[in-house]
Parts: sequence; C-alpha cells; structure tokens
Amino acid sequence: THKDLAYAESLIAETPDYPEPGVLFRDISPMLADPAALREVCAAIVEPFKGQFDIVGGIEARGFLLAGYIAATEGVGMLPIRKAGKLPTPAAAVTYNLEYGSATIEAPGVLKPGERVLLVDDVLATGGTIAAAREIVSQLGAVTIGSAVILELLGLGGREHVGDIHTVFTA
Ligand code: PRP
Ligand code: HPA
Repeated sequence: THKDLAYAESLIAETPDYPEPGVLFRDISPMLADPAALREVCAAIVEPFKGQFDIVGGIEARGFLLAGYIAATEGVGMLPIRKAGKLPTPAAAVTYNLEYGSATIEAPGVLKPGERVLLVDDVLATGGTIAAAREIVSQLGAVTIGSAVILELLGLGGREHVGDIHTVFTA
C-alpha cells in the first residue's frame, strides 16, 4: 500500500560526504531489514513488468539482494552481473564511469537467445551502471525488457543517460 511505501522510503538512510566529500550517500540497509518495507518495495519494482520477464538481472552488490528476492517471489531465475575478476569464465564485459570512479562488470554465459531480462539495482545515479548492464545483456544475446531501481537520484543525469527506467522513489 501507499502507506507501506512511504514507510519504506523513510527507511533509506542518508550519509553526507561518503564515500568522498560532496556525495550524499543513500543506504537501503534499514529498508532491507524491515520485512514489510522489503516486500512492498520489491513488489513496486516489479509491478510494471509482472509476467513479462524470464529472468531478473541483479547488479553487484546491492542489486543481488533485490534480484534474489524478486526471483523467488516471481518464480524466475536470477542473473548475477558481477564486478570484474569474480567469475571464472565471463561471457560478457563492459567498462563504464561511476559517480565516483570507474568500474567493469561481467556476466556468465547463462542466458538463452532472446531471453527476456528485467534489470534491477538499488540506486540510479549517473546511469552508467544500468547502461553497462544493458550492454552486457545485449552481448549475451538476450533482451532487456525493463530496468528498475528503488531510488533515482535527480540531478546526476541518470534518466537522460539511460532513457526508459522505472524508479520507485526519487531524491
Ligand atoms: C552503486 C549502486 C549502483 C551504482 C549507481 O554501486 O548500487 O549499482 O552505484 O551509480 P550509477 O548510476 O552512477 O552507475 P557501487 O558501484 O557503489 O557498487 P557496490 O554495490 O558494489 O557498492
Ligand atoms: N547510494 C548507493 N549507491 C550509489 C549512490 C548512493 O547514494 N550514489 C552512487 N551510487
């Protein structure tokens, strides 16, 4: 319900100057720790895409937490999209820029051709991560049918960068 979602939003913690000066860091840990908030937020992430995806892609590290939960509730599998160097046999790799620093993500070659993927993560900042994850899915020969995050940070150009994305909260 709306009340549960408003409560969930209140459980996103804010820390100034982390991980570096000038960044106001949003931490979903208190939201994850609350069963009603976790349930309502994951339901809200999936809502526009219900029944339209075969597998949910989670981006390391906080996207894993959401993707695992959503895979269980929606009865689909889960694709871990990992930080570079963690997989023995990566089938796709993309390097991208972050709000702070740069990163490479990789994924295992476990998707079937044309498989429909929903991408999930905690936060949309510059959009580099979601854009890179879409490129990963494309390299794997599958199709991103949607992207969704809990919190869209306004003013960092994320929506301009990635275009169509579903976000539950904005800040
Ligand atoms: C954060 C966040 C997103 C990404 C958003 O992850 O969880 O994945 O940054 O930023 P962007 O829209 O500018 O790409 P981070 O790279 O800090 O990794 P972590 O979850 O492993 O800490
Ligand atoms: N929280 C979590 N991840 C992030 C943030 C944030 O505030 N900014 C960029 N990635």
